[in-house]
Amino acid sequence: MSALAMKRHAILVVAAAAVLCATGGPARAAPKTITLPADGIELKESALPGYAKARANCVACHSAEYMAYQPPTAARPYWEAMVKRMKAVFKAPLDDADTADIVDYLVKTYGAEQSK
Ligand code: HEC
Repeated sequence: MSALAMKRHAILVVAAAAVLCATGGPARAAPKTITLPADGIELKESALPGYAKARANCVACHSAEYMAYQPPTAARPYWEAMVKRMKAVFKAPLDDADTADIVDYLVKTYGAEQSK
């Protein structure tokens, strides 16, 4: 086969593969999955409204390990200061309207107001 003919042949194969992919034909590649290593601890599940908000706002930069390692005796003002510090110092993109719910979730899940 001449080089030109090979080039044409290759183009034809690519076009055929594209058609098969588009129509879901047999040439469609099997879906690839990537398993990532476990990334630290996740936030403890809770029915409190702050749980979803903490998930959305508090584990982008670090895992929930940081919360888990706070003293279980830490009271509400401690968590309030913590959340405010995350926003003021580290620029956590946190809506002030969500702060109260997040603090409530944290103190009841990791702090002094845990129900045991
Ligand atoms: C923009 C990134 C960012 C976001 C978002 C963020 N943090 Fe942090 N957080 C940090 C960094 C950086 C540290 C490490 C600070 C240090 O080493 O002093 C930290 C540390 C902590 C610690 C460990 C205690 C400490 O004083 O260092 C806690 C607890 C914590 N964050 C809670 C939260 C909570 C709760 C939220 C959600 C309201 C949150 N973080 C959101 C960046 C972030």
